[in-house]
Amino acid sequence: MIVGHGAQACNQRRIEIGTINTDQFTSNLSLCDHEHMQILFVGDIVGKPGRQCLRQALPILVKQYGVDIVVANVENAAGGMGVTRKIAETIRDMGVDVMTSGNHIWDKKEALSYIDLEPRMIRPANYPDAPGFGHYVARTQTGVTLGVINLLGRVFMNPLDNPFQVVRRELEHVREQASVILVDFHAEATSEKVAMGWHLDGDVTAVVGTHTHVQTADERVLPNGTAYITDVGMTGPHDSVIGVDTRPALARFVNGMPSRFETASANPRLNGVVITANPTTGRAEAIERVNLATTALATPTSIAVSCS
Ligand code: FE2
Repeated sequence: MIVGHGAQACNQRRIEIGTINTDQFTSNLSLCDHEHMQILFVGDIVGKPGRQCLRQALPILVKQYGVDIVVANVENAAGGMGVTRKIAETIRDMGVDVMTSGNHIWDKKEALSYIDLEPRMIRPANYPDAPGFGHYVARTQTGVTLGVINLLGRVFMNPLDNPFQVVRRELEHVREQASVILVDFHAEATSEKVAMGWHLDGDVTAVVGTHTHVQTADERVLPNGTAYITDVGMTGPHDSVIGVDTRPALARFVNGMPSRFETASANPRLNGVVITANPTTGRAEAIERVNLATTALATPTSIAVSCS
């Protein structure tokens, strides 16, 4: 059983939270109460810069938003490719309750065995035959459950089982235990992600896209109550080519020659979304983007921190 965050914050008075889509943290909203569930989803954590960002920003975000539970995509957390047991445990210790993944989940061999031991780290459900699980149901301290499902797209990616059909099978399992359900659709094509949002509108609380590492500005609550965003973005170095050092990345584009990719380090930012859910109906009431430079992370009650 997962014990999430937020109970302590929600026992307090409603707290001021901010619209975080800027280099400055500002306070102008308040959402923390017992009738809503606050889910923080953290976009693809890339390498050490991403992990350092998470460590510094997460406690502040959890407090400011009254976050009940944290979900993060960790498939690039180890040097930009894959995840190791040690890194997954470190991320868990930082306060991430459920870890999702994608096409890079098997890049570090130890993930093949570790994922069977750690059900809180899931892999895309549409792998036809793979270790681990495609969904997990977490529970907060207040007893609210959150079902998390992970899927991989098929457009411009290696084809797996049809995610649009597999998600129905996964929902049958998750619905028995949770009314609030989040789907991480790890996919390349915008059209495929948008289609999944409409496919699941009214059936799940949120569909969040991952994989492309560039945060999109199309977050909305669809007509039947499903929060949607095409891509949550990247928690990692933003002065890069989607996490890779610009020099070797550019060399491939400019000269067409092979080059060794290294994870970049400059301009670390945390990208994420905060979803406000109604646990009774399972509908989303709001979705808000977070695009936070931790070097500028200064709240009215905290001092600036740096990822360096
Ligand atoms: Fe990916």
